[in-house]
Amino acid sequence: MTDTGTDTAATTSATVSASETRSSEQLIRAEAPVLAHNYHPLPVVVARAEGTWVEDVEGRRYLDMLAGYSALNFGHRHPALIEAAHRQLDELTLTSRAFHHDRLAGFAERLAALTGLEMVLPMNTGAEAVESAVKVARKWAYEVKGVSPDRATIVVADGNFHGRTTTIVSFSTDETARAGFGPFTPGFRVVPYNDLAALESAVDETTAAVLIEPVQGEAGVVIPDDGYLTGVRELTRRAGCLFIADEIQSGLGRTGRTLAVDHEGVVPDMLLLGKALGGGIVPVSAVVARREVLSVLGPGEHGSTFGGNPLSAAIGSAVLDLLATGEFQRRAAELGEVLDRGLAALAGSGVTGYRARGLWAGVDIDPAIGTGREISERLLAEGVLVKDTHGSTVRLAPPLTITEEELGSALAALTKVLS
Ligand SMILES: Cc1ncc(COP(=O)(O)O)c(C=O)c1O
Repeated sequence: MTDTGTDTAATTSATVSASETRSSEQLIRAEAPVLAHNYHPLPVVVARAEGTWVEDVEGRRYLDMLAGYSALNFGHRHPALIEAAHRQLDELTLTSRAFHHDRLAGFAERLAALTGLEMVLPMNTGAEAVESAVKVARKWAYEVKGVSPDRATIVVADGNFHGRTTTIVSFSTDETARAGFGPFTPGFRVVPYNDLAALESAVDETTAAVLIEPVQGEAGVVIPDDGYLTGVRELTRRAGCLFIADEIQSGLGRTGRTLAVDHEGVVPDMLLLGKALGGGIVPVSAVVARREVLSVLGPGEHGSTFGGNPLSAAIGSAVLDLLATGEFQRRAAELGEVLDRGLAALAGSGVTGYRARGLWAGVDIDPAIGTGREISERLLAEGVLVKDTHGSTVRLAPPLTITEEELGSALAALTKVLS
């Protein structure tokens, strides 16, 4: 090594990270000049975590009622997932898809078996899975359905959240997510969520797919009427277009079933998974689909250097083994009833409404009591982490490993900050 400057810089930065001694307050202040301000985090600096609990720099403990927006469905550092990660770190971490590796087939087999679908396209983040699905749906429309070149449309729902890329924000209905980021990708039609008649009138011979969230998470845990998902399935089949279910947040046990579409026994043509698939350790996402659909991709037409890497596949496989036991889905269903009862008791006492499915709830706060952000800050002071959305809503999505006692204490804290 002749470039001693680089060497010294590397040594210095390693020394800084190994000896971080700043307080929470100092670390928060230090972020402002060096980090993009695209988030407005609650003022807590987490340094350690285990199960349902996180600990800040000063050693204060908090009950995590957000679980990384469902990326931590199995809690922080689940022993089986940590063990799978360690084992894989000792063997092989990355090959790129230029070569085969020994963990990928098993991961895809498990994923297909769990979802009742046939083929897997592994990616990393949720947004990448959505982008991939958009590309696959368009190609399927041209090659299989026979839509004229560059005419394919995809129908999406008002209030959607599918990620942050330029194409995805092109069909967002949230002005904050869009403003300043045009020009936008064409080819999307937006209809009201939970409205089959509107969907029917938006679908035509150019429609490649209908893309919806079976439960709209970011919108505030908005649950469609019973029969909506069945209706979307029947309508898309009749219209000869694909049904893409974005279960990146709703999937993998959160709602009390493996998938939110399972509540209506519906199987989409393409299923998008992410977040919890990486066990809260690495970003792992996937498009899972019928063979006829994913077969439209050939070599060189799509890919990702890190997609399906050995570490991700090993951790993803361990996640799927946990889900195969059914334990987490059962816990979400049973404790979901406790959560539902607890929130029902708060209706009219600071809560103007709520929507809950499994261990997942959007709680609308009476504006007279405070904003969603203010309630989140008051809960932080009580040792409970949640996140607000859309001004007046607080989202609850604890790890599915939470105990009934812990859930009770979170509900007690919510009762306290609302009174
Ligand atoms: C339904 C849904 N789709 C896609 C995404 C995007 O995932 P990521 O942040 O991993 O890109 C999210 C993230 O919240 C989501 O909730």
